[in-house]
Amino acid sequence: MSFPIVVLISGSGSNLQALIDQSLQGQLNVRICAVISNKADAYGLERAKLADIPTHTVDHKLFSSREEFDAELQTIIDQYEPKLVVLAGFMRILTETFAKHYEGRMLNIHPSLLPKYKGLNTHQRAIGAGEKEHGVSVHFVSPELDAGSVILQASTEIAPDDTAESLAKKVHSLEHIIYPLAVKWFSEERLTFQKGIALFDEKALPENGILYNQALL
Ligand code: GRF
Repeated sequence: MSFPIVVLISGSGSNLQALIDQSLQGQLNVRICAVISNKADAYGLERAKLADIPTHTVDHKLFSSREEFDAELQTIIDQYEPKLVVLAGFMRILTETFAKHYEGRMLNIHPSLLPKYKGLNTHQRAIGAGEKEHGVSVHFVSPELDAGSVILQASTEIAPDDTAESLAKKVHSLEHIIYPLAVKWFSEERLTFQKGIALFDEKALPENGILYNQALL
């Protein structure tokens, strides 16, 4: 029996594609029940359609408050009864009610080594601060932006000639490895969330989560 998940996107959906590919190749035993976007022109919706996954667009601009938007989103998500909600480039700030409803069963991927560089323009900010390394984090979603328990991080060196664009490419290729891995761990119940604490193989995860290396695959 495969593990039902719903994926939320706003854009290109390359992380969604990594999940689709790994589940088609049998590396990831999940069933993507639906892909939901807040933007009708998100390319990720095309990727979902090509993989025969039902899609929904919930345009945030048609709602008069975040609460109403999140309530509609929740209604659509819950009709699929997913065991996990995966935010894959979903560019909306969530209400506390929504975040709490999915506490311990909603993941996000953020392009920085959290807790550094929460928010936007992370690649440029890391270069501007003279960082020698940068990376990406998968974390549980909590009501505060980019602040939930970190599960898995992958890092890359910042080369002297890196631009925000070249660094984004390097980070993206790491995203496509670690996001499916974290989803796999959750689907296998190796990764759990109990009483506000993220556990891996029943041990509390360290503050920065697990640092990715190939041996984890
Ligand atoms: C990624 O950089 C991810 O870290 C961030 O949004 C971007 C989504 O990219 N949360 P894609 O739509 O999966 O290609």
